[in-house]
Amino acid sequence: MPPSTFSSVTLNINGEKHVLSVDPRTTLLDALRERLDLTGTKKGCDQGQCGACTVLVDGRRTLSCLQLAVAAEDREITTVEGLAERERLHPVQQAFLDLDGLQCGYCTPGQICSAVAVIEEHAAGWPSAVTDDVRPEAGPPPLTPREIRERMSGNLCRCGAYVSIVEAVARAAAESPGGAGVPEDVTTAGAAEEAAA
Ligand code: FES
Ligand code: FES
Repeated sequence: MPPSTFSSVTLNINGEKHVLSVDPRTTLLDALRERLDLTGTKKGCDQGQCGACTVLVDGRRTLSCLQLAVAAEDREITTVEGLAERERLHPVQQAFLDLDGLQCGYCTPGQICSAVAVIEEHAAGWPSAVTDDVRPEAGPPPLTPREIRERMSGNLCRCGAYVSIVEAVARAAAESPGGAGVPEDVTTAGAAEEAAA
């Protein structure tokens, strides 16, 4: 009997285990959408350029269109469907809703997953490419609009809802345990930054 060309893979998604038989070339994105009906994660470019397919793998932002499903075996995968707690939206989801951080909404699941990780990365003191003082003792830099834009720059929005998205990320960050240092009026701060640029 010829060897099977399919592989068995166990995916831990939003706290549930799923055992699938997949072609080893299947991306995590296609496994989520086509095999598990988790269609919250969107396919935009399918080549790692737009961020629409962003999910969290072990808490880190991952482009699921570039990740093979078999390589995600036994990792903790969180999709946009797994962020809310029962009827209570995740603070980032709530902020996007309250502040109109979406227009068509196609990029929104990826933006929200990225923002969740951005807030955690910032609270953990990770610098970005625009952080002025990267010494560990300097602690997390203020999460200014410039920092948010840089940290979210892998997620494109064709509708141009960026202003509201930046405000939503800032508000959710300010409400999170490590959220100190977010400017109170992020819109004003952003305008000042843009004027100075
Ligand atoms: S669909 Fe994955 S980055 Fe665009
Ligand atoms: S809200 Fe439409 S692409 Fe972002």
